[in-house]
Amino acid sequence: MENAKLRELLEDMSLEEKLGQLTQVAGTLYGEEAIVTGLLDMFQMSDEVLDISGSVLSVHGAEKLMALQKQQMEKQPHHIPQIFMYDIINGFQTIYPVPLGQGATFDPELVKQLAHMAAVEGSASGLHVTFSPMVDLVRDARWGRVMESTGEDPYLNALLGVAMVEGYQGNDVKEKGNLAACVKHFAAYGAPEGGRDYDNVELSERTLREDYLGAYEACVKAGAKLVMTSFNTLNRVPSSGNRWLMRDILREEMGFDKVLISDYGAIKEMMNHGFSKDEKQAAEQAMKAGVDIEMMSCAYFRHMRELLEEGTIDEEMVDEAVWRVLVLKNELGLFENPFKDASKEDEKEKILCKEHRALARRAAVDSFVLLENQEEILPLSKEKEERIAFVGPYAKEKEIFGSWSFPEDLGGIITIQEGVEAKKLKASCTYDSGAFLFDERTKLKDGTFYEPDFSLGEEMMKEALEHVKQADKVVVCIGEHSKQTGEATSRTKLTVSDGQMALLKKVHEMNKEIITLVFAGRPIELDEIAAYSKAILYVWFPGTEGGNAIADVLFGDEEPKGRLPMSFSHRGGQLPNYYNRFASGRPNDGTLNQGFVMGYIDQTDTFMYPFGYGLTYTRFDYSDITLDKSQMTASDRITASVTVTNTGKREGTETVQMYLQDLFGTVVRPKRMLKGFEKITLAPGESQKVSFTITEEMLRFWNIDMDFVSEPGDFKVYIGGNSACTNQADFVLK
Ligand code: GLC
Repeated sequence: MENAKLRELLEDMSLEEKLGQLTQVAGTLYGEEAIVTGLLDMFQMSDEVLDISGSVLSVHGAEKLMALQKQQMEKQPHHIPQIFMYDIINGFQTIYPVPLGQGATFDPELVKQLAHMAAVEGSASGLHVTFSPMVDLVRDARWGRVMESTGEDPYLNALLGVAMVEGYQGNDVKEKGNLAACVKHFAAYGAPEGGRDYDNVELSERTLREDYLGAYEACVKAGAKLVMTSFNTLNRVPSSGNRWLMRDILREEMGFDKVLISDYGAIKEMMNHGFSKDEKQAAEQAMKAGVDIEMMSCAYFRHMRELLEEGTIDEEMVDEAVWRVLVLKNELGLFENPFKDASKEDEKEKILCKEHRALARRAAVDSFVLLENQEEILPLSKEKEERIAFVGPYAKEKEIFGSWSFPEDLGGIITIQEGVEAKKLKASCTYDSGAFLFDERTKLKDGTFYEPDFSLGEEMMKEALEHVKQADKVVVCIGEHSKQTGEATSRTKLTVSDGQMALLKKVHEMNKEIITLVFAGRPIELDEIAAYSKAILYVWFPGTEGGNAIADVLFGDEEPKGRLPMSFSHRGGQLPNYYNRFASGRPNDGTLNQGFVMGYIDQTDTFMYPFGYGLTYTRFDYSDITLDKSQMTASDRITASVTVTNTGKREGTETVQMYLQDLFGTVVRPKRMLKGFEKITLAPGESQKVSFTITEEMLRFWNIDMDFVSEPGDFKVYIGGNSACTNQADFVLK
């Protein structure tokens, strides 16, 4: 529709219609079975809002949404089409690794392909918008939503967030198979005090700008059509009412002129925060902050008329918000085609199709991180006639996908047993659960209960150990329950259940040839698991093709190539913890009891596994770094190169990483910062030169005067296989 006509439409709309466009309701309120991603009782929505609402979240299905669109457009005075939104963060029905696992791929191109695949499936199912990418920087694994992020590094998060925006939106969201992307949660939701979901975030403006805002800005610059406000207060101001954050930073500085949507009920929740004295004030504060769509609360609908009549809010502010919503609908082509890509035929043809499964399988393989491989116990042989016992709750489990996935057909999920049995092996394998994911009946975050028949526990363990006794090798399949990560799943104890640990120890008493697979949506404590395992493969929540991907890597058809997107600490007590921390006036050397130095008296201030870490089935050797010059001016650049050699017996993929360190500044600088990486695959004995360009822009930071500049001085460049690499060279910025 021409903009002029869109303007006419806006001018012709009643206030009630306008407020309807600014109110989003959950599909479940239309009697549709929908995923419920928040509290429903807060809504107390009247039917009139349901009739006039401009957008719906959390329901999908071509037929269902076409019917809903038709029904609702008839009720709309100007027959304005609704927008249908949904949380597709790691695949729609073909489910791929959770975003933290996607982070482990260090592969923006792959992440873009995955997002495009999700958009093809979601749009065929009648959807228009996905609430993704989530690019909240995370440094505290107690927060359950680290699963939904791509990790602790600003540079990696920005690259992968942009890849997702491009993958979902394509060149034009109107085109078939594309979804509009919604960047979330603005801002700094990943830094709640104590790792407690929904808690306050206290950050200096320098830290906010230096570490947290970059990925959101990159996604906005990449053309994301929506941004979502975060639940948290930022320095004691709730995001949905934070004018500085939303008007000055997001809209003015970042140039975001599209739709800003609140998170679920977040406007009304400003009353709970103690920021709004009542719902009417919440409506005023959110509108003044520039929030366009109110998700799942109706402060706007109930109070905007009064706010306008008393002159507290100008109608043009409301019109601006409605205009942005109408523009989004227009960019989606909904005025010409309200059903967009909804198609039962396409649903049937595209969802879980061979190509999509193949891509999901490849992504799962690329997300796995090999953390230990003593005596090169992995890969297992396909030719060897040996007995392998798979034991643990995940040995035959279908739920190996993240908690923001809602597969309609669990049957389509490939378990470890199914994946291994699909291999032509000489080995004979057994599969026993052996233990439970929880030690007792447990209420899960979605209100359901984990309540298997615990009385079978002893029998299960006995059966499993029977097979372990006869086995040559044991694969222990343990981890978190998928619903222990995601929203509202903060944990203080980052370990697997006692029952799972008991199983591992019992197995170890009988058989030392143990490979442990860990399913988790966050870094958990691995010291004890490592003490009883020769190999550890971290598989996150791999999704639909998880069992096949695990079998591919275990038996060497594929090599593990993931690298950690988050550091693994020894203990939760070290959190928040991250590789790009700062030095100290009293640095420690990684040992205990050095007296007056930074650190703990009961735990070394070290990582169990550092950011960027991961093993492969071969080895890589790095030459010293060569620089084409050791001094640069602001208009210059330096090329830093290494030669990487595969010194092992198998082909392997290395993620060559480049970190920079600014040795002195008007404010202290992180010990090192990821500024580049390149994945290379080398045959045994093959070498490849890898070069990185160092620019002055990479050296900029928010200095003592809060200017974003570089400062002349001494720098180090590190190039290696993870953030703890020591291969370094010095250079100077003149
Ligand atoms: C939730 C989440 C947000 C999600 C939204 C809609 O509460 O915080 O990430 O997109 O509601 O489901």
